[in-house]
Amino acid sequence: MAAIETRSLSKVYVTSFGNKKVRALNELNLTIEKGTIFGMLGPNGAGKTTLVKLLLQIIFPTFGTARLLDTDINDYHLKKKIGYLPENHKYPPYLSGGAVLKYFGKLSNINGLELDKKIDELLELVNLSKWKKAKVKTYSKGMMQRLGLAQALINDPELIFLDEPTDGVDPIGRKEIRDILLELKSRSKTIFLNSHLLSEVELITDRVGILNKGKLLREGTVRELTEKKEEYKITVSDEEFELTRYSDKNMIITKSNSGSYSVKVDDIRTMNLLVDKLRNDSVLIKEIVLQKDTLEEMFISLISQEEKGIEN
Ligand SMILES: Nc1ncnc2c1ncn2[C@@H]1O[C@H](COP(=O)(O)OP(=O)(O)O)[C@@H](O)[C@H]1O
Ligand SMILES: [Mg+2]
Repeated sequence: MAAIETRSLSKVYVTSFGNKKVRALNELNLTIEKGTIFGMLGPNGAGKTTLVKLLLQIIFPTFGTARLLDTDINDYHLKKKIGYLPENHKYPPYLSGGAVLKYFGKLSNINGLELDKKIDELLELVNLSKWKKAKVKTYSKGMMQRLGLAQALINDPELIFLDEPTDGVDPIGRKEIRDILLELKSRSKTIFLNSHLLSEVELITDRVGILNKGKLLREGTVRELTEKKEEYKITVSDEEFELTRYSDKNMIITKSNSGSYSVKVDDIRTMNLLVDKLRNDSVLIKEIVLQKDTLEEMFISLISQEEKGIEN
């Protein structure tokens, strides 16, 4: 079942008394399955926050439609099933972490002992139990984000939107947040997160989208998006053995400085033929790795291609 489904979803902001139009989201078609972690990537101004705000009906589309959890986004009952951590959220500095959660719990119509129990459970989950009574003004950025996560989970939502959850958080804090997200996924929650931190997203998401100037440029698994289709790195244990002898018109083999070989083939069958030959010749294969771009390399080349396309 789809957790999120958009059809031609579009937003044009009109500013300066109608003189200026910003096409923030351009005919977005996207389907995200339940129980997955989806990461929307894009540079600043790409339209990521606009998308989340549209799905939550904080703002309204210029045209297009969307469904969450198989329900039209106009149905307000949907809100009970959704959690949201806004970008750059702020809580009153004089409140304790526990009091913040109490406030949001009450807004979600949870009260009394049930709420107290829920708050303790969530503080445990986000590793803030010891800080329950401390004022949020004493919290680090990472702790604020974890408290924000707890707030987004107070109504036990099925679908959670997180806008830049690890922004400004140090590496250890980011790892803690990733671990919490994976824990939530294991509880069958669907997580949609916006991020401009690519390496982060690579580590935990099932699928990613790349948004630029309101347009979805790519969507798929990190593996699909980063694979160089036909190149393998192969290392054999006998360093004297020259693999280049197998080069032919279907297979280009070159030696790298590290002693491993790059093999370019048209398809995986040719690669397997090479493996057969090596095994026949009793060559021990140490490692075969499909060559990949990092998500960051792919992202930068995609966005810069787009920029060139627009200039031409
Ligand atoms: N309320 C608004 N009024 C006018 N323009 C806006 C408004 N909110 C965002 N924008 C513009 O829409 C584009 C997308 O913004 P946003 O969704 O915040 O991007 P991101 O979250 O990817 O950084 C940007 O060009 C931004 O300046
Ligand atoms: Mg944003």
